[in-house]
Amino acid sequence: MAASFTSPGIQEADRSARLIDKHGRAITDLRVSVTDRCNYKCVYCRTGNDGAQYAELPLDDYFRIVRVLVNLGIEKVRLTGGEPLLRRDLPTLVRELAKLRTVDGNHPLDLALTTNGHLLADLAQPLKDAGLTRVTVSMDAVDPEIFARITRVPGSFHKVTAGIRAAQRAGLGPVKVNCVLLRGFNEDQVVPFAKFARDEGVIVRFIEFMPLEEDRLWTPASVIPVHELLERLSTFRPVVPLKANALSETARRYTFDDGVGEIGIIAPVSQAFCGHCSRIRLTSDGKIRTCLFSQFDHDLLARMRHGATDEEMAEWIRQVVEQKEARHHIGEPGFLKPSRSMVHIGG
Ligand code: GTP
Ligand code: 5AD
Repeated sequence: MAASFTSPGIQEADRSARLIDKHGRAITDLRVSVTDRCNYKCVYCRTGNDGAQYAELPLDDYFRIVRVLVNLGIEKVRLTGGEPLLRRDLPTLVRELAKLRTVDGNHPLDLALTTNGHLLADLAQPLKDAGLTRVTVSMDAVDPEIFARITRVPGSFHKVTAGIRAAQRAGLGPVKVNCVLLRGFNEDQVVPFAKFARDEGVIVRFIEFMPLEEDRLWTPASVIPVHELLERLSTFRPVVPLKANALSETARRYTFDDGVGEIGIIAPVSQAFCGHCSRIRLTSDGKIRTCLFSQFDHDLLARMRHGATDEEMAEWIRQVVEQKEARHHIGEPGFLKPSRSMVHIGG
């Protein structure tokens, strides 16, 4: 049976004990990976040669862990993978998480999903009904052939656009579309994506490629830096900056001179945003990761299996989070790739 969400216990005991790291950053944002399976083999992410060694926690474990974390001040939960829609019980997870309330103000969580969109057309409405707030879809080209070259799954493009439209119809907006830019693959998609943002009413966010892939594709030259991206955008129309929504936001926001369309630029490599990082991650095998680029995982599941109480879990999580890394070191001499690739971390 799932743990009860309404019982007092830790909820009352720990209201004052929020997650703050030793650099003074408040941690309010949790990424939960619900599986490390994926139905795509994007060139910048996975090879598909991982021998089917997959990990997925049972739903009850997610309920308990997220409840403990929400009681420590988490306000935003993003479900990720692998590809999260491969989990058939995802609407049940969403329904239970939607019952949680923030410790500050007793509000519902901001409950979002990052998906490749392949299965979204049929799932958008059930997820909305279960209490999902919004969706981000990863989509790296608006040209179906380039899309298939990146995802390495032929014929997938139209499923994703159908998924995006279904999410908009279901009220899971504003839908964000994440495009990882890779030199030699999709830099010529910048202007078509700007048009796509305007035509479809989605927020398109361009992301600099980070060294998180299973293959060895990343080099400094493979990253399309912000200045080049802005130059490409401005060949279409003049670009106008918009105000940030929040300090910890990953994207810088832009529109065009006529105010139509929103573009985000996420530049973790050339303009790192670690100083305002508010995120931690839970992997699908029950580990806490304090940074995308961590060299270590922290095994929360092992503590649970050894009988830790909610209070003991909370205390341990506080200590782990306190040690969160100051920043990543991409591009610096001696940079070490993280201990896991993106598909096994959760985006
Ligand atoms: P909102 O909740 O809508 O603001 O979304 P978000 O921007 O927090 O989430 P999303 O999952 O869409 O993240 C966007 C991209 O930012 C990811 O795909 C990563 O490329 C990058 N990103 C997210 N979190 C981190 C992080 O902790 N460190 C770094 N370096 N990059 C990150
Ligand atoms: N660099 C930058 N972004 C990445 N993503 C996956 N791998 C990388 C990478 N190496 C993005 C995906 C998705 C999110 C989960 O992370 O495009 O939007």
